Amino acid sequence: MQVRPITQAEHERAQHVKSTAFLRVSQDISPEDTSWRQIRAAFDDDGTMMSCVHDMPFVSQLNGRMVGMCGIGGVASLPEYRRRGSIRAIMQHILDDAYARGDVLSTLYPFSFAYYRKFGYEVAQAINAVTIPMSQMAHYAPFGTARAFAAGDDLAPFQAVYAQFIKGRNLACDRDDAQTGRPLWHSWLGSKFVPGKIREYAYLWRDTDGTPGAYALVCPQGQGDDTAFEVYDYAFVSPRAFRGLMGFLRLLDGQASSIRIRLPEDMAPHTLFPQPYDITVSGQPRGMVRLVHVEKALHTLAAPGLTGEVVLGVQDDMLPQNSGAWLLSLEDGHAYVQKTDKASVFNLNIGLLSQLVCGTLSFEQATYLHDFSLDEEQTAFLTRVFPKRKQLLIERF
Ligand SMILES: CC(C)(COP(=O)(O)OP(=O)(O)OC[C@H]1O[C@@H](n2cnc3c(N)ncnc32)[C@H](O)[C@@H]1OP(=O)(O)O)[C@@H](O)C(=O)NCCC(=O)NCCS
Repeated sequence: MQVRPITQAEHERAQHVKSTAFLRVSQDISPEDTSWRQIRAAFDDDGTMMSCVHDMPFVSQLNGRMVGMCGIGGVASLPEYRRRGSIRAIMQHILDDAYARGDVLSTLYPFSFAYYRKFGYEVAQAINAVTIPMSQMAHYAPFGTARAFAAGDDLAPFQAVYAQFIKGRNLACDRDDAQTGRPLWHSWLGSKFVPGKIREYAYLWRDTDGTPGAYALVCPQGQGDDTAFEVYDYAFVSPRAFRGLMGFLRLLDGQASSIRIRLPEDMAPHTLFPQPYDITVSGQPRGMVRLVHVEKALHTLAAPGLTGEVVLGVQDDMLPQNSGAWLLSLEDGHAYVQKTDKASVFNLNIGLLSQLVCGTLSFEQATYLHDFSLDEEQTAFLTRVFPKRKQLLIERF
């Protein structure tokens, strides 16, 4: 078996592998489509492409810093070549590359959590899918102004709102980063928003002083009395801007009976409406994450006032550079990280460490799952090192 990046000439074959795996009809490839550069494939000894995976470099938030994040997508094997380890071989290739280019994280959206756990990934976050009847939206009084985006309008206010929104939310991606080669704004808010030609709407909300504060991309779903507006992307710069956005979205009440929106776990949807019995909340796991570079990831744990040290015993079967005993010393806003010969006191696999560093789980929450057999002092320190953190993984890849 050979694993390597594909050539442009092999793009159509990769498209065939993916469309077979995802039961789709192959789309024609446009000459401007450069996504083949992200595709890594496994070839049989006779040169047949058996499987492929996209390696998409993003930049994302991690504990107040922006770090390289390897997005995994388009994982596909032709049925006749499955269970031969070709996806495992491609994942190894991609993770090695990601480590070499300095990425700290990798994320993906799994079809099966058990499958990607084999490669060191763990559940990344939970998100609340919330259905709000318009009667409950009425709690939010309109203020400020809103305007529908039309193709050709200035993207800058949307970009500024988003940049503010993602601050402090782990795993949220930098949508302006040129490195990704994916001009997200232009594909999401590009030419498709022609007024009257599309049943999707992008609204920018401005505060009373004219400052851009929030946006929502909405799409009606269903028919007649069951019509709901799906808010499929949104951002807001502050709680006040959230209220302003909701105050605008309630004005859609003439066209739909409810609003559907996926809110991050920390937004506690039952507290946001006067009659919480009337809203439907479905908590859903979303995405998986793994650390690619343990040393760099541990550096992001520094926090003012946090002092102490711990030796972590890490097990990472795919990236053995990450395995071993790591001494993490924290001193008032600085983190010192090094491999050590000291005995580890806290042993964990790369999946659990990934969740703790990203704040999917707090250390306390992890002790509901595992008996770490630590003393009181170590437990108190680790509780401070690994708090629950805000997250938002919503990029589509
Ligand atoms: C999922 C899929 C990519 C697996 O391809 P594959 O070539 O069989 O993968 P591999 O042989 O490299 O499997 C790697 C490991 O996962 C296991 N595995 C394979 N398919 C699995 C499945 N459906 N569920 C759980 N484990 C699975 C293999 O046994 C192997 O285990 P091991 O390395 O511990 O021996 C393939 O079945 C497929 O294309 N499915 C349809 C498209 C899809 O769902 N893609 C994923 C989108 S997130």
